[in-house]
Amino acid sequence: MGLRAKIIGTGMHVPDRVVTNDDLAKLMDTTDEWIQKRTGIRERHYIEEGQQPADLAYEASKNALRAADLDAGQLDCIILATLSPQADFPGTSFFLQELLDVPETPCFDLRAQCSGFVYALAVANGFIQSGMYQRVLVVGCEVHSTGIDLTDTGRDVAVLFGDGAGAVVLEANADENDPAGLIEVRLHAEGKNAKKLWVEAPGSGFTPVRITHELIEQRRHFPYMEGRLVFKHAVTRMPEVLLETLGAASLKLEDVDLFLFHQANLRINEYVMGQLEIPAEKTLSNIHKFGNCSAASIPMLLDEAVSTGLLSRGQVVSMTSFGSGFSWASAVFRW
Ligand code: UT7
Repeated sequence: MGLRAKIIGTGMHVPDRVVTNDDLAKLMDTTDEWIQKRTGIRERHYIEEGQQPADLAYEASKNALRAADLDAGQLDCIILATLSPQADFPGTSFFLQELLDVPETPCFDLRAQCSGFVYALAVANGFIQSGMYQRVLVVGCEVHSTGIDLTDTGRDVAVLFGDGAGAVVLEANADENDPAGLIEVRLHAEGKNAKKLWVEAPGSGFTPVRITHELIEQRRHFPYMEGRLVFKHAVTRMPEVLLETLGAASLKLEDVDLFLFHQANLRINEYVMGQLEIPAEKTLSNIHKFGNCSAASIPMLLDEAVSTGLLSRGQVVSMTSFGSGFSWASAVFRW
């Protein structure tokens, strides 16, 4: 069976502050009804003054390490997927590494937006299968609340996003009697659609400086999204890559016990499940509670599946994402 990357612990964390749809309706022209009907979201969590992305990542990582029964010092590498880094540079992973008190453990951020976690899983898998590292911490962490336009102008995007972090610890598994581990992962990207869902500024291509009052006045530091186009691509690419990944693993849809989809919009996932005729009881959603947490959504969902006992060892899990870039990806593993 060879060396496999096995998930030995999961964790998640969201900040305490809950922001409901009604709270947003006080800031912009929207309604709880519109948001719930179009997206399935009821509330999301936002950080409060003084909280940092790395604080969320730290809590999620501690939970994953506790579940794995490991100390941070036993990690060989930390990969953190995010589209909302704590600083322009260095990556959030460096602030997390300091909080974890592992001063020389290699760490880096990975940028593949809402597909960031699945991309990071693929990278960690490569490290483990090559024998380079034994134990890798993979984190998805986002703080969207400080980067969205909470006025009428930004309402299409602002209502979707929330803050949160999810983490997993992966370990090399060479035990012939333990089939747990990543089976297949497939990654895709399409840069021609980079500007269909993006934040333009600050950007190093703006001369002579990356951010100006003018750019801010033009609101170019807020996300821009062609929602319908993103929706259309998501409902096409997600089933495509999911089936490609299962095919590469010689598995059928019926072999999968649990399907975890990126939480961008409940309607997207319902549409994908309808196309593939996946029964509702074979999936789990958290978008109603947390909104879209981009790279953090899937590991948060996995942690919920594990901590609520929905998932038991030996079961097959498929995870699929789509997001800005465009980027889309799928992984299948035996828990
Ligand atoms: O994780 C990254 C990937 N992101 C996604 O996958 C998001 C994909 N896109 C979507 O989920 C949907 O496109 C949205 C939920 C964002 C929007 O739903 P939609 O059905 O595509 O709505 P729309 O953009 O076509 O807008 C319909 C109407 C418009 O008004 P008019 O022109 O019909 O008068 C919008 O101005 O809804 C209006 N609208 C809103 N109304 C109330 C847009 N945002 C809001 C809002 N509240 N927050």
